[in-house]
Amino acid sequence: MTAAMLDVIVMAAGKGTRMKSRIPKVLQRLAGRPLLHHVLDQAASLLARRVVVITGHGAPEVEAACAGWVSATGQFDLKFALQQPQLGTGHAVRQALPLLADDALVLVLSGDVPLTRAETLRALVQACGGERLALLTVRLADPGGYGRIVRAADGRVERIVEHKDASAAERAIDEVYGGIMAVPARLLRGWVARLANDNAQHEYYLTDVVAMAVADGVPVVAHCIDDALQVAGVNSPAQLASLERACQLHQAQALMEQGVRLMDPARFDLRDDERSGAPGVLRCGQDVEIDVGCIFTGAVEIGEGARIGAYCCIAHAVIAAGAVIQPYTHIDGEARGVQVGEGARVGPFARLRPGAELGRDVHVGNFVEVKNSRLADGAKANHLAYLGDATVGERVNYGAGSITANYDGVNKHRTVIEHDVHVGSNCVLVAPVTIGAGGVVGAGSVVTQDTPPGVLTLGRGRQVSKTEWHRPAKKAP
Ligand code: UD1
Ligand code: CA
Repeated sequence: MTAAMLDVIVMAAGKGTRMKSRIPKVLQRLAGRPLLHHVLDQAASLLARRVVVITGHGAPEVEAACAGWVSATGQFDLKFALQQPQLGTGHAVRQALPLLADDALVLVLSGDVPLTRAETLRALVQACGGERLALLTVRLADPGGYGRIVRAADGRVERIVEHKDASAAERAIDEVYGGIMAVPARLLRGWVARLANDNAQHEYYLTDVVAMAVADGVPVVAHCIDDALQVAGVNSPAQLASLERACQLHQAQALMEQGVRLMDPARFDLRDDERSGAPGVLRCGQDVEIDVGCIFTGAVEIGEGARIGAYCCIAHAVIAAGAVIQPYTHIDGEARGVQVGEGARVGPFARLRPGAELGRDVHVGNFVEVKNSRLADGAKANHLAYLGDATVGERVNYGAGSITANYDGVNKHRTVIEHDVHVGSNCVLVAPVTIGAGGVVGAGSVVTQDTPPGVLTLGRGRQVSKTEWHRPAKKAP
């Protein structure tokens, strides 16, 4: 059996009632990406010839999510089969079969089982070998809710019984069906046509094909793995949360193996960007330390010896060696990116927005927002300030409470602050404006015109203290 004959069915029509959500279950997110994308990735890694996604509940949204995946990952033969109404997993597969050729080896995946490894699926396809029915199974300490694998005295698989139809003795069986099977299309076609719905849920169960295979003398192989995570389905918010933690722990462990020091791998998150679909990729140099509760999104690079404090959100950013990001800092480069230079100190409570570029040893302190601005080496904005659309020279000191008024209500304008300028506290630099090198802007100034280099600029009312003044006294009633 060659890979070219492998066709994949992804069942994604169910409502997911137990999620109690308006969003179709297969579009719920795990590590920032829809469950369905995780499953489509599996199909892609197996080099499937064709993928048929069965849609039903929320079909337009599910189809749009697939289209997004196809455009992000490139060429792929992906088709949809609409299942309306949703009468069970067997009924779902029935809708896909007209789109599959008889020579196909069909791998049936569930859109709500996201963490199966490609090598497990390959082994299942091997076990099918184009002539057997191969089932992915696992033994669970708590098998509740899953279909149970019923075996004969000699150990051969006889059938699957769904939890709701199982007797007390059958419910005691700890080997469950993982929701994934590999089966020749020509056999599947015959069995699915004969499915009935005389069961507890009045559904057409795909799992009933097992008993049919046995009756037809087709060998049934249970490929039993011992990693429950690979077959864990998402049916409820609690299950989604526990898979999220498992998935994140896995990423955290991979980073620790590279030497990254995570203060607590259980409090680490790396996600795809749900706005753009950009994959979550964190690259770290040697001796990077990351404190608890940080969330990384999209592509983030952290240079050697840099430290990230607790509870930072960092998306699409490059943080150079030796930089220190203090707790509660929010960095989001979106499409343009953010750059933090070597040895820079950012935060706590700082906000770096798209196009923020900090040079070496720059300091950006608490409640300082920087957007589309370059701060050259050694520049400092330590407290409560805004720098938007600005070019800030080396060693500039930008005072507390100062802002660039970069927006005139229609257009954005640039502010240039040349080398070694000292901007006092609470200044408004009304763009477009240039502050000449080495100059000082006195506290509280509103600067509307360019200033020459090396001068003191004041743009505020002159202070008066009135000696003739008396504080008013309270009138007698
Ligand atoms: C199913 C299996 C069960 C197995 C478990 C593993 C059946 C009858 N039962 O149960 O043996 O242990 O998966 O996770 O197959 N779907 C459709 N159309 C439908 C119904 C479901 O497309 O009419 C899709 C769902 O969107 C979901 C998948 O099929 O992605 C599984 O459906 P679900 O209702 O979650 O089945 P389980 O009860 O978990
Ligand atoms: Ca399920």
